[in-house]
Amino acid sequence: MKILVTGGAGFIGTNFIKHIVAEQPVWEVINVDKLTYAGNLENLMDLNEQAKYTFYRGDIADKSFMEPFFQRGIDVLINFAAESHVDRSIQDAEPFIKTNIAGTYVLLELARSYGIKKFIQVSTDEVYGSLESEGKFSEESPLCPNSPYSASKASADLICRSYYETYNLPVTVTRCSNNFGPYQFPEKFIPLIITNAVEGKAIPVYGDGLNVRDWIYVNDHCRALETVILKGLGGEVYNIGGNNELSNLELVKKILYLLGKPDTLIQFVKDRPGHDQRYAIDSAKMTRELGWQTAYSFEDALMVTVNWYLKQPDWWKRIKTGVYQDYYNKWYGRV
Ligand code: NAD
Ligand code: DAU
Repeated sequence: MKILVTGGAGFIGTNFIKHIVAEQPVWEVINVDKLTYAGNLENLMDLNEQAKYTFYRGDIADKSFMEPFFQRGIDVLINFAAESHVDRSIQDAEPFIKTNIAGTYVLLELARSYGIKKFIQVSTDEVYGSLESEGKFSEESPLCPNSPYSASKASADLICRSYYETYNLPVTVTRCSNNFGPYQFPEKFIPLIITNAVEGKAIPVYGDGLNVRDWIYVNDHCRALETVILKGLGGEVYNIGGNNELSNLELVKKILYLLGKPDTLIQFVKDRPGHDQRYAIDSAKMTRELGWQTAYSFEDALMVTVNWYLKQPDWWKRIKTGVYQDYYNKWYGRV
């Protein structure tokens, strides 16, 4: 089986490739990544030499670059490639439109022209918008995205749907909740908390800190995606969640406790515009129809994650200097 992974040098893509190389060693894995600020090839340097793995640097929105991969034949495409950070989409939506919408369109068109057995679009619970204190998102919940990021992902989801309905292209969309784990870029909340706390820096908490997210360990998401590749059906949407809701404030306090750092590091800052109040995912369909469920406890996975960052200061310190530092100062310095 030949699988094209787009965006495989980012956080989830890295974890997914490592998972697949270990669990499905006969699969041939091709990773195409543009290596934006979020793509880091260093993540994949430790793949074993027997791994059937190749990497190409390129842009999914560049049709002439992408076409030869389809010409040579692909069984499965799994599209992780995206601009993924909500705050960056608020500052500048353009790359989100180009990669998340136009890039996905290019992949769909090529898949339609050359044929494919499965096309998996890795999407997000954020396409459903925001919940109040009750209820969970099901696959039937209306799409109601609130940020340029989530709107770009929802747009791509709808184009995927149309390619199934119109051309019978076997496209499956997955919508997962907030991931955490090793290799996550420290602009995202959990690695930001850990690395700032280690450096003795303030932890910026937006608004009143009562926004709720449903956290899932990245390995559970990767296991879910492997399951969708093996058993998922074209034209279907599958929600993937951790069934683990926490307010941002509860989360920060847990991590500070694990690190033995004081709550006085918490600093309430200006809220994110359009900040979704709560996400909660109902993944019953994944369990009922595909037999997937989470395998990791949140507390254990959080400890593993904290320890990973404690053991990899060089990895995140290289990131937290230079370009990322400029972004950080601009975003958190805004009034
Ligand atoms: P990430 O930002 O860590 O990685 C994205 C990767 O895509 C990077 O390696 C980047 O270089 C690459 N990329 C960006 N533009 C590209 C382009 N035009 N062509 C080729 N490669 C390009 O993101 P992530 O957190 O790993 O998320 C991966 C996917 O999963 C995204 O589609 C995201 O929407 C989705 N998702 C993320 C989460 C989460 O909690 N992180 C949850 C649900 C869904
Ligand atoms: O729900 C899935 C989504 O989860 C993915 O689609 C996105 O790609 C991913 O980035 C993530 O989006 P969020 O916006 O939920 O994640 P983030 O880590 O940016 O923020 C998590 C929560 O923490 C959110 O309520 C905002 C808050 N936050 C975040 C940052 C960066 C803060 O309070 N302070 C911060 O400095």
